[in-house]
Amino acid sequence: RKGRTPEEVVRRYLQKRSLLFSLPPVLQDCTICMEALAGPSGYKGPGVGGISRAESVGRLSQCGHQYHLQCLVAMYNNGNKDGSLQCPTCKTIYGVKTGNQPPGKMEYHVIPHSLPGHPDCKTIRIIYNIPPGIQGPEHPNPGKPFTARGFPRHCYLPDSEKGRLVLKLLLVAWDRRLIFSVGTSSTTGETDTVIWNEVHHKTEFGSNLTGHGYPDSGHLDNVLEELRAQGIAEEDCLRD
Ligand code: APR
Ligand code: ZN
Repeated sequence: RKGRTPEEVVRRYLQKRSLLFSLPPVLQDCTICMEALAGPSGYKGPGVGGISRAESVGRLSQCGHQYHLQCLVAMYNNGNKDGSLQCPTCKTIYGVKTGNQPPGKMEYHVIPHSLPGHPDCKTIRIIYNIPPGIQGPEHPNPGKPFTARGFPRHCYLPDSEKGRLVLKLLLVAWDRRLIFSVGTSSTTGETDTVIWNEVHHKTEFGSNLTGHGYPDSGHLDNVLEELRAQGIAEEDCLRD
């Protein structure tokens, strides 16, 4: 969304002001800055300019949650400014959410073995490869190197109808840079490294020593739920 100012992006996702809504939301607080919506934004960073007192509160169009307009703009500026906005209260996504996954490769193929718990089908193996590099402006420490441990990372899905659906959605997630992120590994504590984002993968084939293997009857439904939380659902996938 080049050419749109952060404020214009945010305004696109707000409800048009109605008579009802123009009554001041006296009793509510803005959960971004924790100050009353009836008063000014508690955001103290660089000004967003030109937001008048009368327009200082915005109501998101789908979920209806309300924030100081200035707080929404500040939140947008703190993210990767991809033209999308996510409600911090209910996580509703406006626009298409993208992440900050570094450049790399995603490949997959079918292998002629069955996963524990999926005796009736073969297996899809996904191979992710991301080399180390230098962090961009969308990463925690721009200009600083990041490491990439344990690549290529191999992941497994049953080659069933549902497994293939998950694969299809993971390909969309990959294109939107949502499978990995750069940050601190919760397993190793290493900073400035490539880490899994919020979509769980099974990285063990024949065992489950790490808890990231099979059998796990709830796994595919969990992944579908996690993908949905990133704004990726079956319906969108058909359009993609
Ligand atoms: N396989 C799959 N998912 C994992 C693994 C793993 N081996 N280890 C952690 N996760 C999940 C965690 O449950 C968490 O939800 O990834 C999320 C982020 O965890 P981090 O430890 O921050 O991620 P990362 O450092 O990328 O993973 C550590 O995963 O694939 C391996 O080689 C990699 O050993 C490394 C481990
Ligand atoms: Zn606020």
